[in-house]
Amino acid sequence: MNDQIATTDTTATEWWRTAVIYQVYPRSFADSDGDGIGDLPGITSRLPYLARLGVDAVWLSPFYPSPQADAGYDVSDYRGVDPLFGTLEDCDRLLRDAHALGLRVIVDLVPNHTSDEHAWFRAAVASPPGSPERARYIFRDGQGPDGTLPPNNWKSVFGGRAWSRWPGESQWYLHLFDRRQPDLDWQHPEVRTEFEDVLRFWLDRGVDGFRVDVAHGLIKAPGLPDWERQASMVGDGTDDGVNMGPMWDQDGVHAIYRDWRRVLDAYPGDRMMVAEAWVRPQAHLARYVRPDEMHQAFNFDYLLARWDARMLRRVIDGSLAAAASVGAPTTWVMSNHDTVRHTARLGLSKPGVRPKGIDSKAEQPDEALGLRRARALAFLTLALPGSAYLYQGEELGLPEHTTLDAAYRQDPAFHRTNGAEVGRDGCRVPIPWIADAPSFGFGPGPATWLPQPDGFAHYAVDQQEDAPGSTLELYRAVLRLRREYGLGNGQLRWLDSGPDMLVLDNGPVRVVVNFGFGAAVLPAGRLLIGSVSSEQPEPEIIQGNSAMWLAVPGR
Ligand code: NOJ
Repeated sequence: MNDQIATTDTTATEWWRTAVIYQVYPRSFADSDGDGIGDLPGITSRLPYLARLGVDAVWLSPFYPSPQADAGYDVSDYRGVDPLFGTLEDCDRLLRDAHALGLRVIVDLVPNHTSDEHAWFRAAVASPPGSPERARYIFRDGQGPDGTLPPNNWKSVFGGRAWSRWPGESQWYLHLFDRRQPDLDWQHPEVRTEFEDVLRFWLDRGVDGFRVDVAHGLIKAPGLPDWERQASMVGDGTDDGVNMGPMWDQDGVHAIYRDWRRVLDAYPGDRMMVAEAWVRPQAHLARYVRPDEMHQAFNFDYLLARWDARMLRRVIDGSLAAAASVGAPTTWVMSNHDTVRHTARLGLSKPGVRPKGIDSKAEQPDEALGLRRARALAFLTLALPGSAYLYQGEELGLPEHTTLDAAYRQDPAFHRTNGAEVGRDGCRVPIPWIADAPSFGFGPGPATWLPQPDGFAHYAVDQQEDAPGSTLELYRAVLRLRREYGLGNGQLRWLDSGPDMLVLDNGPVRVVVNFGFGAAVLPAGRLLIGSVSSEQPEPEIIQGNSAMWLAVPGR
């Protein structure tokens, strides 16, 4: 491997360019009232924990009124808070407290589809075909002599077909996800003005930005042509092109984001948007973060990369170059609420592959090995220039729940595929805070909307706080050093290394990752911190499946 300089814009100062952003999945973070479902007051009570962790911002997954057919990604009112999670006042308090602690807050915006309980959809199904009420969604007549065949062959991301008929209705409506998530027609001007207004509603309340759900899906190809392949939300790292169908990444989406950018730019304080766009190649992703569109896009190529030095280096270089070509920062993402936790993925025999959920019939990850690699990967991720996203619990090294009984599963993907796809519940299990409390301190009582495995006790916050070498303390230390050395705003330079190693300098920090099982020779530099141990019994050696941060000699 040769030296190489990858460029980022080190002169720009907006906070989001270098921010570490922590994803809170509200139903599973902290429960204040004991109903087993996390809520906004619960999150507010734990903000000091997040401030101490050393992150810059919090992204909240949806907490809006919703029948919860897709855990809140089915919104029935874009301007409220579901009673499950609290009230608008609770939200205001959360924003106030977060800002007082120096934390920014990003909320989720779900524009591709509403809930089937949204007033617009209710009006649509109560109105005749061809009515203005229906025009906000994608209703079509069926095929065949009596219209009983769907309008095209599109499949839902969650399994089954992407079209349904409302009871007693002849027309079909499109839903790329669950049948309870009808797709909006973004060619309709009212849809556009409504969402600009929703943006203003939350900006006026003080949010610092939006995570935009399914940002690549809002515009569909004219005529809705057939597409033989499965529409997939998340690739498995091998399926280039899977999201190239007529429902994804159409040029028309960009005009929407340019309009939204104008809305955000009218507000003070560097408000931002981050695209959830599962598109390839990186050059296409970069189009979402052109100077007049969004600010960031999740880097899913990084999330999907295997435990493989060459693959990771390729992805890192490719992402930095693509983002730099439009003056945007890269993001680095290892896990989120839609993917098997990376502790589990890295403990599989093919480390880093992304199964769509793990159940007791599947290969069980090696928990210790997965955690060891996850800690090393965090050392790499948090040393890279740009912005990084953390998913709640990863700072604890939390494993996936891989033996969750089918009876508890709630993911519509599990139900729509009759269990063929295990789904995402295993990464959404409530967080353990206190090892010997009911619900591990998630709530005041024992209730949790998904059962927590016994092994979670070991990962509880109170077991790790101030415990030298715990994953939590490692995250805290690494985040502090990242900030101290300005790594988010740094420049990356690769150093020569063996095939199973990555060695890079970012400013005064030299990062060494050993992807192999055997120990390897450590390059020069004084040890700052190690993913296995911060003492170095054998100088000049780095153990397998581990990482170290060294001080670059002479700096
Ligand atoms: C992406 C979200 O992250 C996921 O949880 C959701 O199911 C789909 N979009 C549909 O909104």
